[in-house]
Formats: sequence, C-alpha cells, structure tokens
Amino acid sequence: MARRKKIYEGKAKTLYEGPEPGTIVQYFKDDATAFNAEKRDVIEGKGVLNNLLSEYFMMGLNNIGVPTHFLKRLNMREQLVRACEIIPLEVVVRNYAAGSMSKRLGIDEGTQLPRPIIEYYYKDDKLGDPLITEEHIAAFGWASQQDMDDILSLALRVNDFLSGVMFGVGIRLIDFKIEIGRVYDGDFQRLVVADEISPDSCRLWDIETNQKLDKDVFRRDLGNLTDAYSEVARRLGVMPKNAATPIKPTLIN
Ligand code: TMP
Repeated sequence: MARRKKIYEGKAKTLYEGPEPGTIVQYFKDDATAFNAEKRDVIEGKGVLNNLLSEYFMMGLNNIGVPTHFLKRLNMREQLVRACEIIPLEVVVRNYAAGSMSKRLGIDEGTQLPRPIIEYYYKDDKLGDPLITEEHIAAFGWASQQDMDDILSLALRVNDFLSGVMFGVGIRLIDFKIEIGRVYDGDFQRLVVADEISPDSCRLWDIETNQKLDKDVFRRDLGNLTDAYSEVARRLGVMPKNAATPIKPTLIN
C-alpha cells in the first residue's frame, strides 16, 4: 500500500498531501492541548466532532460567499481542503470579555464589549503566540495593508455568521480565533478562511445557563470535553438526538 506524504503535524491536526495538486487532506486528531501544550491529553472522539463541526461552519461560510479553504469532508476524521499559504497570524474576534482579555484588562468574563474587538497574535509556538499590533504586521511584512483590510472584513463576516448560527441554537459566541490563508489563482492571490472552526478555537456559552461548551472545559477541568462538543453538534443537527456517535458521513462531490 502506498504511503501518503505527511506535510505537517500540528497539535490537533495532521496535514497530508491531497490527491490532486493544490489540495491537502486535514486529519483531525483526538489530541487536546492548552497553555501552549503544557497541558495535554487524548480525548476520544474530539477529532471526529471537530471534523464535522468545522465542515458545518466552513460549508455555511462558503454558502454565503465567505471564501474558505474547505472543499469536502472525506470521512469521519479527514477533510479535503485547498492548499494555501497560512499567514502567520491568529486573528481573534471578541464579542464578550473572557480568557486572556479579561486577565490582561481586568474585565469580568462575560461582560459584553461595546463592539466586536479584533486582536492579532503572532503565530509562533516557541514565543507562545504573542499579542501584536498592526504596526508589527506592517513593519515585519507579515501582511500588506490590502491583506489587513481583507482580513478585517473576513473576520467580521465570520463573526456575524457564527454569532447568528450559534444564537439560533441557544449558544452565545463569546470569542473565536481564525487563521487566514493565501491561495493563488494564476497571477492573482486571494485570502480565505483556513485551518478549522470548532469548539477548540471558539468560546461558546449556553445562553440560559452560561455553561461552557468549548475547550475551556479542558483548559479549566470543568467536565467532559466530548460531552460539551457533542452538545454543540447535537444542537446544530450535526449529530442525531441522544446519539453517542455523530451521523454517518455523506460524501459531497
Ligand atoms: P484567549 O482568550 O486565550 O486569548 O483566546 C481567545 C480565543 O482564541 C478563544 O476562543 C480561544 C482561541 N484560541 C485558539 O484557538 N488558540 C489558541 O492558541 C489560543 C490561546 C486561543
């Protein structure tokens, strides 16, 4: 059996060369890490849930005209995506204070912000993904001014979409992180939402109870992580009611 080429192994996903040039297979692992991998565990089923949830969000974005790298889900753990050059930024959008913003600025978690706040972090594990400003991005040439305009617009569109979808199932979108990739079409480049969108990279609180349904459950030892992610999947209809495992995959061509 031919062995496929591994391109990159990250903390939660492995990337393999795709079947056609310009494509990549994203494999979702069960590994969970926090605090720059100081805390780690293997959480059975997390990869399957994130694969399905990320498909759901990325397809929704594609359908409303927000470009993403997502092409199709291949099976329970893998999806086919367009190869792109990842801009070395973690783009965080916050609607309510939480996490590092609450700590840094002394604002109670759950406080509604006057408007969505966008933050940029430099994607570098060795440095612990430090918070940076647009000055750093421009000075070090990580992205052009045109890129930054496009990134801001993508981030806000993703925020509106995700906030609405989550609100519809009784979940408040506190904040989230996205990554942006460059794809080349001949002489042109355009930016797309890349990586994943899942409860690993969002804060999701139940609107009624404020129960956390995201990776903070793991970061803060608040309970069973797959139960939390399954609840999100169940509410979105990605998983049937009361099922222990997600709906069987259907291949989209
Ligand atoms: P923070 O409050 O820890 O800065 O996190 C903000 C958002 O970004 C939160 O939804 C979790 C997400 N996030 C990631 O996806 N990856 C990371 O490495 C970190 C630190 C946060």
